[in-house]
Amino acid sequence: MRVLGIETSCDETAVAIYDSSLGILAHKIYSQIKIHAKYGGVVPELASRDHIRKILPLINEALDEAKLTGRDIDGVAYTKGPGLVGALMVGASVGRSLGWAWQVPTLGIHHLESHVMAALLEPNPPAFPFLALLVSGGHTLLINVKSFGDYEILGQSLDDAVGEAFDKTAKLLGLPYPGGAALAKLAESGNSKRFDFPRPMVNRPGLDFSFSGLKTHAMQCFKKYATDEQAKADIAVAFEDAVVDTLLIKSFRALKQVNLNRLVVVGGVSANKKLRNQFNQAMEKDGEVYYPRLEYCTDNGAMVAYTGYLRLSAGQRDDLAFDVKPRWSILEVESV
Ligand code: KG4
Ligand code: ZN
Repeated sequence: MRVLGIETSCDETAVAIYDSSLGILAHKIYSQIKIHAKYGGVVPELASRDHIRKILPLINEALDEAKLTGRDIDGVAYTKGPGLVGALMVGASVGRSLGWAWQVPTLGIHHLESHVMAALLEPNPPAFPFLALLVSGGHTLLINVKSFGDYEILGQSLDDAVGEAFDKTAKLLGLPYPGGAALAKLAESGNSKRFDFPRPMVNRPGLDFSFSGLKTHAMQCFKKYATDEQAKADIAVAFEDAVVDTLLIKSFRALKQVNLNRLVVVGGVSANKKLRNQFNQAMEKDGEVYYPRLEYCTDNGAMVAYTGYLRLSAGQRDDLAFDVKPRWSILEVESV
């Protein structure tokens, strides 16, 4: 079975084709970062308009790369939510229309479920059940993944998502949007001993997170050392260390709570090098840790095509009407 996957939930237009015997045949991403960078964040209306411009050419490029035509596609999957309503509408209407034109089933996919499933595209995929730590620009979640489609949320951020905290702190340090990767780069030249940032909520029981205080802490530090150029890198590394440490402490607590030793880290922030080093080290002894390859950490079409395949091959499909769900809990996905 060959599935075309379409992702337009935020500021990346992405498409991919998944073949159930050969894996990913083509994978294309067009990032809108340049359009939004001058505003310091995503402007929803500009995002929707640009998705409209890019989506069909990108689908054609993916088909060409895979040496296929629409007639070779057996199903279409698109991101149905959560995300920006106008942006989601573009992917959903194009996906549903292609399904109609090609006379193949289509299905709307949950963005966070597809982030988690991205890890299963790797050569030695994790077996169910596992604990997923999802760290993206919009979400921070610890999920007990009992099986495909059967989830329990163990903890989540009460305020900023991890990626959002990275982006806001990066902006404060004068780095361009989205600042996560740039902050990580700056942190490499920082002195990690200079500032000691708090590890929020680790002394309280429970598995929820709060990252907005770290951003405030960074701001106070920044104001105090405004004329000191090196302080920026030192703040960046102290911030990154505090985030990674906090995620690690809570992930271990969650693994213990559900009696698992398999951890899967996904979402844009799972591309962070220090996070991977620290998690690899910590899990080395008596656990397993998995990540998607770097290009499948941030938003991409491959994870949508693959999740679409898993659900379409189980017989799930849209009816003729379609809708999008800008707000949609992962607990509400259909069971498989
Ligand atoms: O998963 P994603 O592409 O989009 C959402 O669904 O939100 O995640 C984007 C987030 C942004 O906040 C970005 O700054 C962050 O992931 N990010 C990183 C790194 N690469 C991307 N954060 C820290 N270190 C990185 N290397
Ligand atoms: Zn995402």
